Parts: sequence; C-alpha cells; structure tokens
Amino acid sequence: MKILIVGATSGIGRAMAEDYLEQGHRVALTGRREENLKEIKEKFPQALTIKHDIRKTEEAVSLLYKVYTEFGGIDLIVVSAGIGKFNKELGWEICESVLKTNILGVTRMLTESYRFFQKQGRGHLVNISSVASHIGNDANPSYNASKAYQSNFMEGLWFKSNKEKKARITITDIRPGFVDTRLAQGDTFWKIDTQTASKSIRKAIDKKKRVAYITGKWGLIAIILKNIPRKLAAKLF
Ligand SMILES: NC(=O)c1ccc[n+]([C@@H]2O[C@H](COP(=O)([O-])OP(=O)(O)OC[C@H]3O[C@@H](n4cnc5c(N)ncnc54)[C@H](OP(=O)(O)O)[C@@H]3O)[C@@H](O)[C@H]2O)c1
Repeated sequence: MKILIVGATSGIGRAMAEDYLEQGHRVALTGRREENLKEIKEKFPQALTIKHDIRKTEEAVSLLYKVYTEFGGIDLIVVSAGIGKFNKELGWEICESVLKTNILGVTRMLTESYRFFQKQGRGHLVNISSVASHIGNDANPSYNASKAYQSNFMEGLWFKSNKEKKARITITDIRPGFVDTRLAQGDTFWKIDTQTASKSIRKAIDKKKRVAYITGKWGLIAIILKNIPRKLAAKLF
C-alpha cells in the first residue's frame, strides 16, 4: 500500500508508520519536529518524511500533491495530528491552539484528502478522534469538543461516500481510549502502549470499519459515557 500518515513524529501515528514500514509498505509521514523526522529517516531510509504543520491549512493540497508525485497514488491517508492540554483555567491560548490544530487543520486535511480520493477514484480515509468525543471534560473542554466535532465530521464524510458512487472511498473513525503517549497526561486506567494501539487500529483499517474503538472494550465505556446521567458524571469524573 501507498500510505500517508499526517502527524507521525510520535505516539500513535509514529507506531503505525513504523509498523507499516516494517511490513514493506510505502509510507509518507509528517509532523513539525525535524529531529524526530530525521530519527525516523535514519531508521527507515525508504520513508518519505515531510515537515508539515497542519495549522497551515493552505499547505494541505501541496502535501498531498508531493506524496502523489513521489508514490504515483495514495491508497490510505491516516490523520493522527492532534494536541490536547489541560486547561482548567480556560486560557484562551490553549483553547485557540486546540481549535486551530484539531478542528481547522484536521478539517482541511480531511477535506482535501477526500477530494483527492474523488479525483483518484478510490481511497481509504482514517481519522483518529477519541472516546472523549462522547462526553465533555471540565479539565480540557476544547479537546473533548474538538473530538466530538471530528467524529461528527467523519460521519458526514461516511454518509457522503455512501451516496456517491463515482469513487470508492472508505471512511474510518478511530476512537482510542487511553494510549501511552505525551498527549495522555496524568494517571489513567486501561492505558495501552502505542504498539497495541497500532495493531488494533491497523486491524480496523483492514476490516474497513466505519467506527472502531481502540481497543474494543472501550466501546463499552463509550456506551456508558453516552448514557450516564450528567449529574452523576459530574460527581464521578
Ligand atoms: N494518547 C491518547 O490517550 C489518545 C486517546 C484518544 C485519541 N488520541 C488522539 O490520537 C492522535 C495522536 O496523538 P498521540 O496520543 O499519538 O500524541 P502525540 O505523541 O503527541 O502525537 C501527536 C502527533 O500529532 C502531531 N502534531 C501535533 N500538532 C501538529 C501540527 N500543528 N502539525 C502537524 N502535526 C502535528 C505531532 O507532531 P509534531 O509535534 O512533530 O508536529 C505528533 O506526531 C491525536 O489526535 C489524539 O487526540 C490520543
């Protein structure tokens, strides 16, 4: 497969990129941290590493074009770029950076990727949202809200791809629970390592799932989060 992973300098995206590279796939990967891109390139010289800031929304098309010209097509695009910081004081700077990355940046990337697949006639588009999409969070309100937005946006693309028959576009919304990365701050339960997350996500991609919880047992938590009376949730969480 010819794969682009947006946001793969660390965490989930990086584990997936390295796993796909080890399996012999052609992988292009992005992120802002040059030292991390260099490190991956040294380990996997065949990887196409591209410095890219998803907040620069005007660069989404040129990124896709660069990968397309290099690979001659793209089969799978995974958007894993995201930030999330505690913001108990409701500081605007943190809130704004979350919106610029997780909403504006991710939406532009997903939109241009979808349009690219329409032109190509096929493709599989994956976004990493979160179980957090099912409930608000007083410690980090903009993060959970951005993930709810992403899941809803992916559902919109899924409906769109089902109605349009000209291109065969598969849409997958990945909703992880806690994964041990720099993003998952604090003590949490059921935290899995990035290798386990990557394996579970790649399996969901292979099965062309519409929605997948990582790992599956988080689907149960999702049901609880969706249905728990909010007054009880306020006492428990
Ligand atoms: N860890 C969890 O428990 C968990 C749970 C549910 C969902 N998720 C989601 O999983 C995704 C990956 O996060 P992670 O946990 O693997 O954390 P991570 O290690 O911090 O990885 C985040 C990735 O996003 C990239 N990124 C951030 N801002 C970017 C920007 N402006 N432009 C381009 N790339 C950017 C980072 O690269 P640079 O910093 O080099 O730019 C990095 O490669 C996120 O969307 C996150 O919300 C994580």
